[in-house]
Formats: sequence, structure tokens, C-alpha cells
Amino acid sequence: MINESRESVVQSATMASLRRGLLAGLALLFVNLLPLLLPCAQGAAAGTGKSKISAVFVFGDSIVDPGNNNNRLTEARADFPPYGEDFPGGVATGRFSNGKVPGDMFASRLGIKELLPPYIGSDLQLSDLLTGVVFASGGSGYDPLTSIPATAISSTGQLELFLDYKEKLKALVGEEEMERVISEGIYFTVMGANDLANNYFTIPLRRHQYDLPSYVEFLVSSAVNFTMKLNEMGAKRIGFIGIPPIGCCPSQREIGSRECEPMRNQAAQLFNSEITKEINRLNAEQSVPGSKFAYIDIYYNLLDLIQQPGLYGFKEVTEGCCGSTVLNAAIFIKNHPACPNVYDYIFWDSFHPTEKAYSIVVDKLIQQNMQYLILEPLDRHSSAWPHAIVEDKKGWSNALLDRWWQLLLQEKHA
Ligand SMILES: *[C@@H]1O[C@H](CO)[C@@H](O)[C@H](O)[C@H]1NC(C)=O
Repeated sequence: MINESRESVVQSATMASLRRGLLAGLALLFVNLLPLLLPCAQGAAAGTGKSKISAVFVFGDSIVDPGNNNNRLTEARADFPPYGEDFPGGVATGRFSNGKVPGDMFASRLGIKELLPPYIGSDLQLSDLLTGVVFASGGSGYDPLTSIPATAISSTGQLELFLDYKEKLKALVGEEEMERVISEGIYFTVMGANDLANNYFTIPLRRHQYDLPSYVEFLVSSAVNFTMKLNEMGAKRIGFIGIPPIGCCPSQREIGSRECEPMRNQAAQLFNSEITKEINRLNAEQSVPGSKFAYIDIYYNLLDLIQQPGLYGFKEVTEGCCGSTVLNAAIFIKNHPACPNVYDYIFWDSFHPTEKAYSIVVDKLIQQNMQYLILEPLDRHSSAWPHAIVEDKKGWSNALLDRWWQLLLQEKHA
């Protein structure tokens, strides 16, 4: 429901300020989530495209693992305090943060559900299976070697779990309904950070085999193969989230100066720019008709928080709330006290952002695409435009963002 005050705020702004806001939104960090939500671009242009979203599925590493590693013999685990201290109920679920992680946020912003559960180990109901799960595993990467020391579920292992999921769902609801859920799902992949930080720059083996550009090329090829396999398995809309500015996480910063480590950041940028080109190519060579692949930028969106922390209400950029060395993450901080003022911090432990930082980044990823998503349907009923949003210097207020989502979801369910 939209309350009175929000409506009057909406009506008070002008069309001119709206256009300024749209242009600002179109700036540098354009992230093309639109194709994911509007698989039939021509239909959308004609105002008839309805983007049905059945479920959200996520593959990747500890950025998005909600607890798949809980029963594994691995140091990449987070099912104990201080993890989860700001999660509903203060529970340490295995999410590598103080609260929710990006998979949860994508699912809730898309109106699917509040939390996106791990596929492994939790007591999943049919309704959970029908609306999406996470196959990600902390410590994983595109390079199969990355998952070995971390005893994480490799990227190939995650695809096998997806196959298992499909079989299970088919047994429960029949093939036709299973195919519908799969083809109307939105898929996100978030991997690559461990391949660089925990493999290439830490273990000598790959450095003996590859120089940095050729290792990045190998990762890109692995990522493309992963995406193609996922597509062959029925995933049509795949949001490909690049590698974050790993040189800026507390454990990777330069010793002494605490500057972001440039080689790691350059490697991440190189991967991101190469995968962007490959994604464009994949869009032309999709194996399932009607598929859309989109590159979603986490690099510059997170870097913006790191470079302008004050703008987002952060005070501490270089240190993690639970510590800043390589040993201030996962099992190494079991029952370790967290800082008292987590909202001041971008990083929770020495590798992973706080829930607040994740939430801002996910909102940015979505906001950068919202105008494209709703422009067509709302233009014709211009009194419904949430004009005031453009005056918000920091991004867009949550209340107005909620309103945009409601409008999008009305479209979705229409
Ligand atoms: C990706 O697949 C192609 C074609 O099957 C293969 O030649 C290539 O080696 C694969 N890349 C990696 C990194 O495994």
C-alpha cells in the first residue's frame, strides 16, 4: 500500500528533475539487468512484455553461500558467532556476513521471498524448491583447483547439484512444472574472487603455469563454459556478476600503507572486461532459444563505497569489523568478538562486506536498471512516476524503491 505522504512527495517533483535523475542513473556504471527481466525485448517495447519470474537461483562462492558448507569439513564456514549477529533471530546460518547476503537481497527485491536458502543441509519445503535455492559454496571458484584446498563445492559440482535439484523437483511436481520453474527462473553467478586472491596470488602452482593475463584468460574460458552448461541445463536468464575489487578487502591491502593492492584489482578488472565481451558473444550464440546473459558490475559499485564511504554512512574502509588479516575470516574467527559499531564498517571480516554494504551495492545494481524496467509501462500513466526519487543524493530512498518494486511486481503478476 502506498501512503498519502509518499503520494504527495511523488506529485511535488517536476518532469525536468525526473529526466536529470534518469540521466544520472544512466551514468558510467551501466549494468544491464534489463535483458534478464524482459526476455522478450520487442514485446516489452510494444508494452506487452510481461516478465514472469518463478524463482531465483544462485551459484558461486562465499559472497552468496547461505550455508551449503555447514556440514563440510572446511575452514570456509560461517555457522557460528559472530557470523549472523544481525540476521533475523541473531542466527549464524552459514552466511559469511553479519546478516543477509546478496542472494537473499536479489530474491526479496524481486518479490520472490525474503531469504534464499542453501540447497544442501536445510529442511527444504516444496515451496522453497519452487521459488529458488542457492548452490554456492564458500571457497569455490571457476578454476577447479581453487575449490580443493578449501574443500568447497567446485563450479562443476554446483552444476551437478542443480541437475540433482531438477530431478528432485520433477519427481515432486512433474516434468512440465519443473521445466516452467527452470525456464522462468533468474540465475546469478558470483565467482572468481577466490581464484585470484586464494589461488593465483597465494598458492604458487598456477603462477608457475600461467602469467596473470593467461590465467585470467583461463578463468574467463572456464566462466564461459560454466555459463554455457548452465544454459544447456535450461537456465535462460543469467546475471553474471563480475569479480569485486579484491585488492581493497582488508586482508589483501598493502601492508603498511593500507592502500588497495593494485595487481589484484587489475586482475579483477581484466577478468570483468574480458567476460563482458564474452557475454555479448554468448548472447548471440545462446543454446536455449530466448536466453539472455547480462554482465552485472560489482567492481565499481563496491569501489564507490570504498572511495566515498561518507556518502553512504561508513566510517571505516580499510579494516574489517572482525579483523583485517587473512586469518580474520571464516573458522578462524569462531566466537571472536565483533566490533561494537558494525554500521560504520564496509567489511565485516577480512574478506566479506557487511550486510549494510551488500544491501547498498545490491540496491545500486537494481537501481541502475529500474528506469529501463518501468519506463514503458509507467510513461503512459505519468502521475504514477515516483518523481521525488531523483532528489536523493545518495541513491534512492528505500520507501520509493519499494514503490518501484511494487509497480514492477504488479506488471509481473498481471
Ligand atoms: C571450455 O570449453 C572449450 C570447448 O569445449 C574447451 O576447448 C576449453 O578448454 C574449455 N575451457 C576450460 C578452461 O576448461
